[in-house]
Amino acid sequence: MMAIKPREGLSSNSLPQIRYANVCWLCSSLVGIVVAIGCGGVSVGDLGGSNGTQTTRAALGKAIFFDTSLSTPKGMSCGTCHAANKGFADPRPGSTSEGVIAGRFGNRNAPSVQYMAFSPKFDPNGGTNGGAIGGQFWDGRAASLEDQVQGPMLNPLEMNNPSIDAVVAKLKVGPEAKAIKKLYGDTVFDDPAQAFAAMQDAIATFERTPEVSPFTSKFDAYLRGTAHLSDAEARGLALFNGKALCSTCHSSTPLPDGTPPLFTNFTYSNLGLPKNAYNPYYKNPSQFNPLGSNYVDYGLYNTTTRETDKGLFMVPTLRNISVTAPYFHNGIFQSLGEAILFYNTSQLGQVFGPAEVQQNVDTTVMGKLSLSSDEVQDLTTFLQTLTDGYVPKP
Ligand code: HEC
Ligand code: HEC
Repeated sequence: MMAIKPREGLSSNSLPQIRYANVCWLCSSLVGIVVAIGCGGVSVGDLGGSNGTQTTRAALGKAIFFDTSLSTPKGMSCGTCHAANKGFADPRPGSTSEGVIAGRFGNRNAPSVQYMAFSPKFDPNGGTNGGAIGGQFWDGRAASLEDQVQGPMLNPLEMNNPSIDAVVAKLKVGPEAKAIKKLYGDTVFDDPAQAFAAMQDAIATFERTPEVSPFTSKFDAYLRGTAHLSDAEARGLALFNGKALCSTCHSSTPLPDGTPPLFTNFTYSNLGLPKNAYNPYYKNPSQFNPLGSNYVDYGLYNTTTRETDKGLFMVPTLRNISVTAPYFHNGIFQSLGEAILFYNTSQLGQVFGPAEVQQNVDTTVMGKLSLSSDEVQDLTTFLQTLTDGYVPKP
């Protein structure tokens, strides 16, 4: 059998900025709006460590993340769709997320926010063979965590605020107003762009904390030599890195700087997933989806408009995967068993239905893996070692 080389995903110059960020994120964060906070002085990364400032900004960001007064009407926070006890994914049933207005659904399954701090800034040509890498969202359309914040805040299918000014008006009278002024300056609310950027900075700072990327799974303990894998887990790991080819995209080795494996290389692929007939987005009021069930999600193509990107979606981390069902960008599978079955057999006929986007389907590393049902089980068992909060049995 030919040897499969892991795809180059993260190269050393695209390494994530989580600990050593020295980039003035805010200067480039809001499209078209130039803001002054943090620029030329301290950068987000500089605030880390012992002076405590980052902790405070992070605490503020956490409070905003879970503040349900910031939607229109009140009642929905980032945490509604990214719950801490569900791998920061949507704890509610359904393939995609319902917004604050009942009956309005987004088109995609809410992914985990965890470990997304390690996604490099979106680069349309920085990945394998000149393909895209990094960014936020399934299609990379937000370049950074800061950029990402604006999406859900203003999306009529999510938090439904009419404008940046409307969000800032809520922040100004909300429970975090005092802390925002303390950390970002007394006059921060004089300019809505500046106040909004402060919020983006605080949320992104929270998303970069070890609380959101804790590396406390059994697999991490195993890597540190403080836990043993069971026979089934060890067999699953060997399959993951070998016969099942998973690590080709869901990298299982530490980064050059010692960061433990992230189980994604942040590149993009079209796995040939079929349409999810039960995607509630199809039943949205027609002003939000005039095409109904004829809607096709072209993924990365929406961001780059390159034909070769039609149907590609970002490789998500598999950390905490056993608590973040349903799976894939359209939430089509409810269990890991089904997801692995798809990888195992999708190229063997039409068991799963035709690919929603037939162009660019990757048939080289998936779809006919010849895994036995025991092997599928072992892989599932291994994936369960990736859940954070592992407590060794005494
Ligand atoms: C109504 C549910 C909902 C709310 C509320 C929500 N999100 Fe999300 N979030 C999603 C969905 C769905 C996606 C994927 C969307 C896409 O790819 O087009 C997502 C994607 C993300 C991502 C990118 C993760 C990845 O793997 O690419 C981040 C980061 C994120 N959200 C943070 C936030 C923050 C911060 C807030 C609050 C300001 C928030 N979300 C509010 C549903 C929600
Ligand atoms: C060619 C690269 C590639 C390979 C090889 C690969 N994956 Fe994936 N994986 C992806 C991409 C891309 C997605 C998201 C696709 C989408 O939603 O359209 C994904 C999504 C997933 C998901 C759903 C994650 C979520 O948050 O919804 C699971 C589970 C998964 N992969 C497990 C595996 C396993 C197990 C293997 C090995 C049998 C594997 N993957 C091999 C690229 C790959």
